[in-house]
Amino acid sequence: IDQSLIRNFSIIAHIDHGKSTLADRILQLTHTVSDREMKDQLLDSMELERERGITIKLNAVQLHYTAKDGKTYLFHLIDTPGHVDFSYEVSRSLAACEGAVLVVDASQGVEAQTLANVYLALDNDLEILPVINKVDLPSADVDRTIHEIEDEIGLPADDAPRISAKTGLNVQDVLEDIVKNVPAPQGSVNNPTQALIFDSYYDSYRGVIIIVCVKEGSIKVGDHIHFMATDSVYEVTELGVRTPHEVKQDELVTGEVGWIAASIKTIKDVHVGDTVTTIENPASAPLPGYKKMNPMVYCGLYPVDNARYSDLREALEKVELSDSSLVFEPETSQALGFGFRCGFLGLLHMDVIEERLEREFNLDLIATAPSVVYHAYLTDGTMVEVANPAEMPDPTTLSRIEEPYVKASIMTPEEYIGPIMELCQNKRGEYQDIEYLDDNRRNVIYSIPLSEIVFDFFDKLKSCTKGYASFDYELEGYRPSKLQKMDIMLNGEVVDALSTIVHKDFAYDRGRIICNKLKELIPRQQFEIPVQAAFNGKIIARTNIKAVRKNVLAKCYGGDISRKKKLLEKQKEGKKRMKAVGSVEIPQEAFMAILSVD
Ligand code: GTP
Repeated sequence: IDQSLIRNFSIIAHIDHGKSTLADRILQLTHTVSDREMKDQLLDSMELERERGITIKLNAVQLHYTAKDGKTYLFHLIDTPGHVDFSYEVSRSLAACEGAVLVVDASQGVEAQTLANVYLALDNDLEILPVINKVDLPSADVDRTIHEIEDEIGLPADDAPRISAKTGLNVQDVLEDIVKNVPAPQGSVNNPTQALIFDSYYDSYRGVIIIVCVKEGSIKVGDHIHFMATDSVYEVTELGVRTPHEVKQDELVTGEVGWIAASIKTIKDVHVGDTVTTIENPASAPLPGYKKMNPMVYCGLYPVDNARYSDLREALEKVELSDSSLVFEPETSQALGFGFRCGFLGLLHMDVIEERLEREFNLDLIATAPSVVYHAYLTDGTMVEVANPAEMPDPTTLSRIEEPYVKASIMTPEEYIGPIMELCQNKRGEYQDIEYLDDNRRNVIYSIPLSEIVFDFFDKLKSCTKGYASFDYELEGYRPSKLQKMDIMLNGEVVDALSTIVHKDFAYDRGRIICNKLKELIPRQQFEIPVQAAFNGKIIARTNIKAVRKNVLAKCYGGDISRKKKLLEKQKEGKKRMKAVGSVEIPQEAFMAILSVD
């Protein structure tokens, strides 16, 4: 392989601007995938990705492109997700590349995550190639988009390819741009081996498969690879590239992106971001890794069937392999038994992980309401981090509680500034600034408590701006707030998994709403169940779930046996996601009642 002919690049964009569609066209144009095999969003291989139409995981493919200069280049294309919750995947992909194709939808222009992704690419010293997409749409405004790329990002965009990833128009220009402007990988095959692990997953036959970008030296079948962070050694049994089918090779050399299998059964030995070297050609120091991402939200995950606790642990370990932004540790709840407190980058991330655990590992889970991490300062001056509201220290020992705030930037056409400000105020936001981007577009900046953002801010923003505003946020720091724990009691007993931290000014309202919601969600049982909310030691709301009437029960007994069986089965089905807490059966939705604040 002639290293000067290798080009490693990612495609980055705001969500839905057409990354995956462009990747499809590139695969087709380079005959990497035959027309017969072609399907939309080919690289979104996970079932969940295809159903939701979003990219969740990065994906790396090797392809060959014969350019107009007559030479055949070796490309490694890394497709990345667009949603904020998965920006960790983006930064990992970028570390394996020299260039980034920045896709901007000509009907939308530059949006919040366009900028956020550009910053990530700049952090990694990448060559950024802007591409204007969706020019086939009647609403496309190419000139305005060029203008925005130049003004808001500061990249020259006059010569940017104007493409339709959908029809394939001018997509070849993008490939020529990559050949001309993305530098070839720098390292040398003769140097000590260093390869960056940027992804991994578990294969039940071959153990952990790692995806690497070889930065220096080479790795051959039979070599002994050494994971520098965990100091473990394995013999390479197979390696190769993806096209996107797995293709075996004898070695991976500097500049190549590929997979390695080495019968790795100990999941803990593998860390994404770690450097692999070889015993045969050892490097003395690892490559700079990745910035560790801190989870933004936590929730408890519990198996419905307590006997499956260790299955859940194993499943979490396997998912963590391919998603190192997931964190978890064991936790016990009086109500739910043994489970794990898990940390996520956002609600979508949480949703996706929970669904992957249930589908890929066939688990039934109960998830508790998400919570941010609070800082609780005790009267003796010490601070404890509280990710589980049930563990908030007793109010008498507390001097104050601080909560995380984010700096939210909302890019919007001018006419929506009013509704946006109203939404931010309702979410306890503090106005910071309005930046003028151009004649019509503004960047509205607010400080808002993270706990208000993670729940339904995104949806609310979308609906109050008809989808025209885009949004990004970064953690700003901790600030004191008038917060306290609210407990929920069922049948007179506190259910720890239902506790939340609420702001004093909202306590009464939320208590009432949650009690009513629980009344709706918890099925009637044989006795009356009082539902109460307690804040600061006082009952602030209460309602009753009435008992089932006797004659309803009577129907279940006696009579036709098959009918009885059917009823029992139906009951069992319904019980799947129920958890008995004391004498009360609680369905999964009840644990999320806290989210339905209005
Ligand atoms: P995520 O992976 O979820 O971040 O989105 P993405 O950026 O990969 O976008 P994707 O490729 O899934 O495209 C989003 C939508 O835009 C799809 O419905 C595409 O069919 C459509 N689309 C993409 N490119 C074009 C284009 O050039 N013209 C038109 N009209 N539609 C396009």
